Amino acid sequence: MEEEKDQLSRRNFLAIATGAIGGLIGIVMAIPAVAYVVGPALQRRTAENWVRLGPTSKVELGIPTLFKTIIESQTGWIVAEEEISVYVLTEDGREYIALSNICTHLGCRVRWITDQGQYFCPCHNAAFDKTGEVVAGPPPSPLDRYETKVEEDQLYILLGG
Ligand code: FES
Repeated sequence: MEEEKDQLSRRNFLAIATGAIGGLIGIVMAIPAVAYVVGPALQRRTAENWVRLGPTSKVELGIPTLFKTIIESQTGWIVAEEEISVYVLTEDGREYIALSNICTHLGCRVRWITDQGQYFCPCHNAAFDKTGEVVAGPPPSPLDRYETKVEEDQLYILLGG
């Protein structure tokens, strides 16, 4: 009788333990599914996201100057870092133009060629003028521009929005 009781409680324990482990596995497996559904709502808002590029003193008058910066983006729980490169141009030290270095054709990186006074995209030999307008090649539109602002001699660009 005593032995039978022991067996029963062992059986009960095993049943409870199996149920608990099964439940735990179910919860662990459900977390990514819930994150997938709820994730978009948790995305970090990027509207009005001003990113500091660096000091205005770095920009030579009339010559596009390359700035690089790391930005962080978050989707759900995934945080990713991305380096962005921006050419900044000013003719008078007051008004600034900030251009993406990503070609609007297929996304290669353009670079400023001082001797030619143009941005050059090596992928399909495209050229853009100083202000980012297409002057040669297949790109369908000018280089993307960022809104800029200057605060305490530091340049900022607006991302997202
Ligand atoms: S990607 Fe720049 S010209 Fe094609």
